Amino acid sequence: MTRCTISVCCLLFLLTLLLGASTALAQNADEPLRLILNADAPGPTINRHIYGHFAEHLGRDIYGGFWVKDDDGAWQLNQPVIEALRRINPPNVRWPGGCFADYYHWRDGIGPRDERPTIVNTLWGGVTEDNSFGTHEYMQLVEALGTEPFVVGNVGSGTVEEMATWWEYMNHPGKSPMADLRRANGQDEPWGVRFWGVGNESWGCGGNMTPAYYSDVYKRFATFLHGYGDVRPFRIATGPDATSNNDLPEWTEGVMREAGRMIDGLDLHYYTVVGGWGGRTLATEFAEAEWIAAFEQARRVDDHIRSTSAIMDRYDPQKRVWLIVGEWGMWHLPEPGSERGFLYQQNALRDALVASISLDIFNQHADRVRMANIAQTINVLQAMILTERDGDGFVLTPTYHVFEMYKVHQDAELLPLTLEAGEYTYVDKTIPALSASASTKDGRVHLSLTNMDPNQSHTVQASLRGGSFSSVSGRILTAETMTAHNTFEQPDAVAPTSFHGARLKGEQLTIMLPPKSMVVLELE
Ligand code: AHR
Repeated sequence: MTRCTISVCCLLFLLTLLLGASTALAQNADEPLRLILNADAPGPTINRHIYGHFAEHLGRDIYGGFWVKDDDGAWQLNQPVIEALRRINPPNVRWPGGCFADYYHWRDGIGPRDERPTIVNTLWGGVTEDNSFGTHEYMQLVEALGTEPFVVGNVGSGTVEEMATWWEYMNHPGKSPMADLRRANGQDEPWGVRFWGVGNESWGCGGNMTPAYYSDVYKRFATFLHGYGDVRPFRIATGPDATSNNDLPEWTEGVMREAGRMIDGLDLHYYTVVGGWGGRTLATEFAEAEWIAAFEQARRVDDHIRSTSAIMDRYDPQKRVWLIVGEWGMWHLPEPGSERGFLYQQNALRDALVASISLDIFNQHADRVRMANIAQTINVLQAMILTERDGDGFVLTPTYHVFEMYKVHQDAELLPLTLEAGEYTYVDKTIPALSASASTKDGRVHLSLTNMDPNQSHTVQASLRGGSFSSVSGRILTAETMTAHNTFEQPDAVAPTSFHGARLKGEQLTIMLPPKSMVVLELE
């Protein structure tokens, strides 16, 4: 008995030594990590809508972000901001919420601006809005951005008739009461909106419904959204709450079973809340513990996508229904001095790398995840752009640069890759050091790589199978510190620069990834 215990102990000891040795090997920055890229075996198309955006009537996203007053006090679109956003090819912009969608009554936002009633934004700061940004202004914005509309209708406090008439107002091509009203308000042609959300977070701020109750309500609302001409509604149902992991399988199961045949997209929401709702810190004031925790938590969206997809596969094996990650991003403490309820936060290198690894995950699931919307575009949560509160200035955030660098993956074919991701350990947490995705379009291959390890560089030895390339070029996003961010005084503290750490020799590509960096390479 004693001998047996001793030999088990010895075995365990030996195993520990072995495991320790392999961990040490994996963490050795000099040891190249292997990547195999199959350039001749393209997978599904990475839908450009994975790079989607979200603009809610919240804080200074619309009013003070997209929609600003000129010197005479007249409202107008914020042209310089729109120009900057055009450079990241926004494929769609989800509007008007968010939770606000289930409070919004569209008829209050049409007609002469000075005759529109006001609305108190009860949820977000209690501010009174003048409804000057309504349906026509949103469509003006959509056109200026060169993007596609994604409207979320009011289920929580609205009626079926209200949603059906909004749909008719925007899309009816012929003579109809709503089309005539639209024409009277200056828009002859229908806008041809197809993405249509039937409520938002109906398990929470959108009405606190059960999956069974929501499914019935969903079917009732969806029944009255009719196709007109070529425009068919792409009906998007509330998906599970992956942030809190509340009833996640039950929601998906219930809604897919009861209403799946009338659903075109299921809208899952997942926020990275480091420390939980009670333990959040500022976007720019954190240590390595919060750095690694952010990646550990952000990576969990992969599990949520897998488990939700597995349920969807049972009801929809053909993958007709899109899994949409309709809200995602980092949710920090608001910046000191910002208005209560406005969710205004800074954006550091950590946010950028959380964005790149999240986009890698969405890319890898391109067969089911066909749309995602980072929350939100301007001045709210993980924004692309921060604008001055009292002035015209604005800065591009590190996350903006990720979207600009990753736009090469939009509508490209996903390339399968095998990555030895290494390990990054801090105290009791270990996560993979690297994340990657690759795609091909127009004869070019793009490979994006993120090194989450803030302390060590990693060399990647990539075998490029099934392709012949003669050149490699790339850009890198990194900074000296984990908390580096852009301010109105230093707008380019975190910005992409040329990358000179890749060498191509035949089928072999060697890449030296500095600590805490993201690189996008182009192979021709
Ligand atoms: O993006 C902020 C809020 O987060 C949205 O209004 C809501 O849908 C989610 O809970």
